[in-house]
Amino acid sequence: MLSKQLHEALNAQINAELWSAYLYLSMSMDAEAKGLKGVANWFYVQFQEEQDHARILMNYILSRDEKVTLLPIEEVRTEWASPLEMFQDTLTHEKKVTAMINNLAAIAAEDKDFASSNMLVWFVDEQVEEEESARGMITACEAVEGNKFGLYMLDKELAARVYTQAAPLASAND
Ligand SMILES: [Fe+2]
Repeated sequence: MLSKQLHEALNAQINAELWSAYLYLSMSMDAEAKGLKGVANWFYVQFQEEQDHARILMNYILSRDEKVTLLPIEEVRTEWASPLEMFQDTLTHEKKVTAMINNLAAIAAEDKDFASSNMLVWFVDEQVEEEESARGMITACEAVEGNKFGLYMLDKELAARVYTQAAPLASAND
């Protein structure tokens, strides 16, 4: 059985992951509208990954014989001045998500809920990757700032990003 506190925090995390998905979808739409198809693709993949994160948490709550409560999704920003600004926002947002995941891990540890602690390990590692990738993208955007050809090449590179299902979902399909 999940503690009430952990159950509520996991439901809130589902909402945060879906809000993240919505934020990245919004960035994808803004980039596409501005002709940056590669940037749009990068954020569309991000949108898909965030939905996986929510699904992993939903599956977990259900597997513990508890109820998933879907909360309202707050509106998101719809316009950014540049891809650099999008990735800066991405990093700021992912840092907040990291703090939320750490808080979940702390509650699970306090509860001595080892199953939840184990489940959260994947998210703890994922957040390290999310922050690292956002930082990498900021560096890349800074490198091409003011250089139209550089941005064109970067956009081409980002077009190659492909979605792969998150490992905990892929293994659940076995
Ligand atoms: Fe996420």
